[in-house]
Amino acid sequence: MAFAQTQRRDMWWLQPALVALGLTLFGVYATWAALQGEHYRFGPYLSPFYSPLILLDWWKFSPAILILWAPLGFRATCYYYRKAYYRSFFADPPACAVGEFRGEKYKGETAFPFILQNLHRFFFYLAAIVLCFLWLDVYEAFRFDEKFGVGVGTLVLFSNTLFLSLYTFSCHSFRHLIGGDLNCFSCGLAAKTKYQAWKGVSVLNQNHMLWAWISLFTVGFADLYVRLCAMGIINDIRII
Ligand code: FES
Repeated sequence: MAFAQTQRRDMWWLQPALVALGLTLFGVYATWAALQGEHYRFGPYLSPFYSPLILLDWWKFSPAILILWAPLGFRATCYYYRKAYYRSFFADPPACAVGEFRGEKYKGETAFPFILQNLHRFFFYLAAIVLCFLWLDVYEAFRFDEKFGVGVGTLVLFSNTLFLSLYTFSCHSFRHLIGGDLNCFSCGLAAKTKYQAWKGVSVLNQNHMLWAWISLFTVGFADLYVRLCAMGIINDIRII
């Protein structure tokens, strides 16, 4: 089948086009924000792009660069995003039952560079560690000069970390980690416990794409919110 040839009569191109638009907008904003190296902190709020904050005397660039590669690697190797950007950016294939665009030497994920997608499970461990720091940031966002309080920024950081957690723990690799490597789900207490945990993760996993997109939006929005507050463009409303 020639490239883009299909018998489909629906608007099959719409979804890959929207995905390309969404990922491009996020990519441009995230790159810009990560390279700024300033306005990432306001009061007890820390932008998720800069967390955990690593400040080193000898590092002359933005501290976000020291940490962002981990969550970026996690997203870039995510099973869902792979499908999304293979379709949207590589037209491989552009959609189901639509002719694809690729050379004869294409070997998919069996050869370099796409064989590196297999690192996803290791990026999961790193993303889980980063998530712990983001929850610490949420804890800090409730403390205003040692007093308990809630600001709009607190809610923004809380909801972002919640959705990032849903995204992280709905991961296919995590589902395998929880329930894989078993031949029998009912053989013994440990296997039964793993089975129950696997069922719980499977419920989250069913909406992995949804968590992927919501968390992509919230993490960008959380950075933007902290940035606008730090730049003095908006005021953070608080109850202390
Ligand atoms: S499969 Fe998407 S984060 Fe693991």
